Amino acid sequence: MSDSNSRTRVRLRDARAHSASSQRWLTRQLNDPFVQRAKALGYRARSVFKLEEIDRRFGLIRPGTVVADLGAAPGSWSQYAANKQARVVAVDLQPIAPIAGVTIIEGDFLSEATEAALAAAVGSGVDLVLSDMAASSTGRRLVDRLRAEQLGEAVLEFCAAHLNEGGSVLIKLVRGAEATLQQRAKTMFRSVRILRPDATRSDSSECFLLGLDRRPPAAAEEATDE
Ligand SMILES: C[S@@+](CC[C@H](N)C(=O)[O-])C[C@H]1O[C@@H](n2cnc3c(N)ncnc32)[C@H](O)[C@@H]1O
Repeated sequence: MSDSNSRTRVRLRDARAHSASSQRWLTRQLNDPFVQRAKALGYRARSVFKLEEIDRRFGLIRPGTVVADLGAAPGSWSQYAANKQARVVAVDLQPIAPIAGVTIIEGDFLSEATEAALAAAVGSGVDLVLSDMAASSTGRRLVDRLRAEQLGEAVLEFCAAHLNEGGSVLIKLVRGAEATLQQRAKTMFRSVRILRPDATRSDSSECFLLGLDRRPPAAAEEATDE
């Protein structure tokens, strides 16, 4: 964003009250233009601008779109989709404060009980699956990559069962995990892209897999056999 250089940097007034790492975190938050914009617009997290950018480019969310928001807390993606009159079901391990027009399920997306609750809430199928889920970082690149791959696989499984033909998926990954998942996604979606929106922090290893236009399930099986 161009306005980042023109702002005055904010410094902590009483830095001694914070540990070194929380000082760094606070200073970064206070000087982050996406944090400031999210606050000004009433969004609960700066990550809303990642979804906004991708939605602006690819037109994912329209009035009436049925959205499953996986790993939704604190809720900025659900807020954004609900503001665009989508019908949203949000899931997270953590509680999410109510959002008008959003059905909230508290639970582990990987558990059968949560998947059953989600399936019941979305009814006859989902048009868009969003996953901003992240397993907590172990600091070991290979382990983190494998855990991201596993979560991504579970999201694609969910899509196989619940995403309507023509529907789309957006999955957060860590770099390195996209290669394996891209293969599977290409069997399910007519177009697959790997994206890094502007709001992704420059020191972050995250990237997003976007699958557009779900193939009919039978065609997906044939693509797997190729
Ligand atoms: C980066 S945050 C999501 C931010 C959200 N998109 C927003 O804009 O407010 C990732 C979330 O994924 C959730 N999460 C991670 N693993 C999960 C799982 N297995 N089931 C449900 N939620 C999970 C975490 O609890 C965390 O709240």
